[in-house]
Amino acid sequence: MSSKRIFVFPGSFDPVTIGHRDIIMRASRNCDLLYIAILNNVNKKGHFFSLEDRLSFLRSMTKDIENVRVVSFDGLLIDFCRQNDCCCIVKGVRNASDFEYEINMADINANLSAHSVDTVFYPAKQELSHISSSVVRELIHYHADISSFVNEDVIKRLRKM
Ligand code: PNS
Repeated sequence: MSSKRIFVFPGSFDPVTIGHRDIIMRASRNCDLLYIAILNNVNKKGHFFSLEDRLSFLRSMTKDIENVRVVSFDGLLIDFCRQNDCCCIVKGVRNASDFEYEINMADINANLSAHSVDTVFYPAKQELSHISSSVVRELIHYHADISSFVNEDVIKRLRKM
């Protein structure tokens, strides 16, 4: 077991939003190393942005945070935790329905790890709680302005699509 406190923030990040960025900044202050683990589910088609794009957006967005490492993973999150010595899973929670879903996931992951991996919830800041990747994707679909939700990289990429 590592003596470092290693956290993992998992997600699809399709695309990463400024809400994610806030959770990343806060979680990175509570650990020695924060993995941002992007789900690369080979069976789950239908991501709007490719894995390469999602990795690139996150690397660019977190380049000023020293203890963050952006990676991709496939399979069970708890296996990623075991392989990378993570003691805590980070989740951002915006509202009661997020909480209801995440408390169940936290329980599953705790049981799968024989309670060696805990889940830490970060409540979303009020002013960011309306932002989600799915809302951003919907706005993209209708060619609406997403500049207050995502970083410039995402907008630049969209222009080339
Ligand atoms: O951003 P998302 O799509 O809400 O992230 C979901 C994610 C990646 C955290 C979740 O799907 C996940 O942990 N997937 C890996 C498979 C797994 O471990 N599932 C939990 C046990 S059923």
